[in-house]
Amino acid sequence: MNRLDGKIAFVSGAACGIGAATVRLMVEAGAKVAIGDLLDERGRETARSLKEAGGQSVYVHLDVTSADDWGAAIAATVAHFGGLDILVNNAGIFLAKDLEESTKADWERLYGVDLTGVILGTQTALPALRERGAASPQGSAIINLSSMVGLVGSALAPLYSLTKGGITAFTKSMALEFARKRYRIRVNSIHPGIIDDEMGDQAIAARTRNEGQGQHGVGPRAGERCPSHWPLGHCYRHRPWHRFPSIG
Ligand SMILES: NC(=O)c1ccc[n+]([C@@H]2O[C@H](COP(=O)([O-])OP(=O)(O)OC[C@H]3O[C@@H](n4cnc5c(N)ncnc54)[C@H](O)[C@@H]3O)[C@@H](O)[C@H]2O)c1
Repeated sequence: MNRLDGKIAFVSGAACGIGAATVRLMVEAGAKVAIGDLLDERGRETARSLKEAGGQSVYVHLDVTSADDWGAAIAATVAHFGGLDILVNNAGIFLAKDLEESTKADWERLYGVDLTGVILGTQTALPALRERGAASPQGSAIINLSSMVGLVGSALAPLYSLTKGGITAFTKSMALEFARKRYRIRVNSIHPGIIDDEMGDQAIAARTRNEGQGQHGVGPRAGERCPSHWPLGHCYRHRPWHRFPSIG
């Protein structure tokens, strides 16, 4: 893995799941990382365990739908660590409903976190990322968590797929805008398949509930968590952060 020595990162939604595993790997690679989440107890525990293992991590409360929270979280990160090189827009929620089941309120809650949260995070972190990017040979970076369904669609979760497709297009647009403005900020998206964590459990439950209507033509058998016809035949397991023995 590439080293991140001296880099300062902010990861939203990192109290648990993919975000917590990402923070653990970044800290192991030498970065100082701020964790922003709604789950204060779990977020503090994640930061505390990293510090106890010799890493540098801090927790800040963040609801990604709030511009005020973003302002306070990025300001606290810059004050604590001295700048910002990397933003990971990871926080997201899932909606395990098809179009006919979904309500306007479902959609508003979903896009508030999955789309508005990414826009606000990008806008708020931009001045700090620009400053460090201008002074660094590598520039700075934004990484957005999209999904496989943000590329190919979903037979079971169309509105979630819509938000993730939006993130895919927004990521490309930001890369183009920042290049046009000659900001030294790279922007990329990541597109995981189903990951074996809390959100992955919701996706698996939706698949099982819709047995016989799977998006690959054959539905999963009841009780079968990772049917062999799923992409690559399995869901993906991030390395649980608490199993890492040490940092270094
Ligand atoms: N798990 C999967 O199968 C999967 C697959 C593809 C993409 N993703 C994407 O990866 C990202 C991380 O997902 P995950 O699997 O770790 O999910 P998760 O549910 O395990 O964790 C999501 C985290 O986001 C936080 N969060 C939710 N709403 C928030 C808000 N308003 N403000 C701040 N934090 C908030 C939660 O508290 C939690 O810590 C998401 O964007 C998700 O869409 C997940």
